[in-house]
Amino acid sequence: MNRRQFLALSTTAIGAAGLSQCARRSPMASTAQRFVSQAGVLTADLVAQSSRLSLAGQPATLLSYNAQVPGPLLEIAPGDTLQLRFHNALSQPTNLHFHGLHIPPTGNADNVFRHVPPGETATYEFTLPIDHPAGLAWYHPHVHGVVAEQVFGGLAAPILVRGGLDELPEIKAAAEALLVLQDFALNRRGQIQPPSPMFQRWGRQGELITVNGQSQPRFRLPTGGLLRLRLLNASASRIYRLALNQHLLHLIATDGSPLAAPVALEELILAPGERAEVLIQGDRQPSEYALMNLPYDRGIMDMMGGMMGGDGMMGGRLAQPQAIAHIEYGDRVEPQPLPQQLLALDPLPQPSIKREFVLDHGIDHHTGAPFLINGRAFAPERVDTPVQLGSVEDWHIINRAGMDHPFHLHTNRFQVISRNGQPVTPLAWKDVVAIKAYEEVVIRVRFADYAGKTVYHCHILDHEDQGMMGIIEMQSV
Ligand code: C2O
Ligand code: CU
Ligand code: CU
Repeated sequence: MNRRQFLALSTTAIGAAGLSQCARRSPMASTAQRFVSQAGVLTADLVAQSSRLSLAGQPATLLSYNAQVPGPLLEIAPGDTLQLRFHNALSQPTNLHFHGLHIPPTGNADNVFRHVPPGETATYEFTLPIDHPAGLAWYHPHVHGVVAEQVFGGLAAPILVRGGLDELPEIKAAAEALLVLQDFALNRRGQIQPPSPMFQRWGRQGELITVNGQSQPRFRLPTGGLLRLRLLNASASRIYRLALNQHLLHLIATDGSPLAAPVALEELILAPGERAEVLIQGDRQPSEYALMNLPYDRGIMDMMGGMMGGDGMMGGRLAQPQAIAHIEYGDRVEPQPLPQQLLALDPLPQPSIKREFVLDHGIDHHTGAPFLINGRAFAPERVDTPVQLGSVEDWHIINRAGMDHPFHLHTNRFQVISRNGQPVTPLAWKDVVAIKAYEEVVIRVRFADYAGKTVYHCHILDHEDQGMMGIIEMQSV
């Protein structure tokens, strides 16, 4: 099925020509396909396929949803029902995971144990709770063993849950841009070039950094007021260290949830799977800012990679600062004030259980896999962590390895309590927490609403594929 058939089939698809159907302008490129829920329902057809398309101005053969990279934006609201007809036109199994949505991990909802074989069609169907937080989530494949390959091939797409911060007057007045960050390694024929197995140990990375499938796109703003950047790191392994030349980033949301008040940052580190929303204040004069990706040191492993001449592959300490997008303010206007308050959030109550998760490198006795949690690699038949529905737990996650491991839990978001014993502020909801080499992080989570099995894992997807994942089962009492 080609793209045009898709647009014809789906009543809610909005292409370049269909913008008038929709109250809001697309926060991404206007040519990108986008599905917006109507009267509480979003119906869409999605096809995972290998296709020849244009990436950063050059022809490339990528894996995509509906022949575009990143895939179609899904724009929904709390309480909405989604019905996605998903066809697998790839040559290997795949599936859909809805990263950041609080929905059942079972049945035909966010069930990562369900695999869609090549050539088959499956329906994903679920309803968001009416009190679901509003923010940025995303979807990507989750078949253990091929997740890194498929995401690095291009399979990733954003989900915007509307509401929440969108309703604050200062933020309503701000211009909105959604930036999906992906990196690619292409050979001369425009095909994905997987790194050698040695480099895959550090997670596959590519030299070509794209924002919404473009190289250094320009975001032009009609006024010099506030700009709201909604950032998603959809890369398989790359950790971004983002900064704006000479300007602060005012953090207003982490992963899928708003903060209580803006926090001014000089730089923002975004590990794979993480999202962040920032406000940028325009100047009195017309101006242009570069959004830079700065060198980031992932630990001693990167140093070794650099010594082996693998700087590009590693994206390590030897990499150069690089502009990944440009922001232009055209008109002369009065700078707009930042909001003082955002949305209140409450700390979770004290936990009834503490658990320990040790992240380390080694060799699993059964599978030989090298990335381990509590000394073991992922086993699909084993429940590693049975928990009681409704309970609050503290998870002590101890990184015994010499490189960062961003830890992700499905279904339930959490609060980060401490890093190396030091309390973490401000209070924020997260679903991925970056854990630095040799760091110990405590997260607090309440297992709410949904019973069933799902997973937690390192979001450097090669690590997940090579063992660093466990199964949690939420049991109703
Ligand atoms: Cu973004 Cu288990 O994944
Ligand atoms: Cu997830
Ligand atoms: Cu890892």
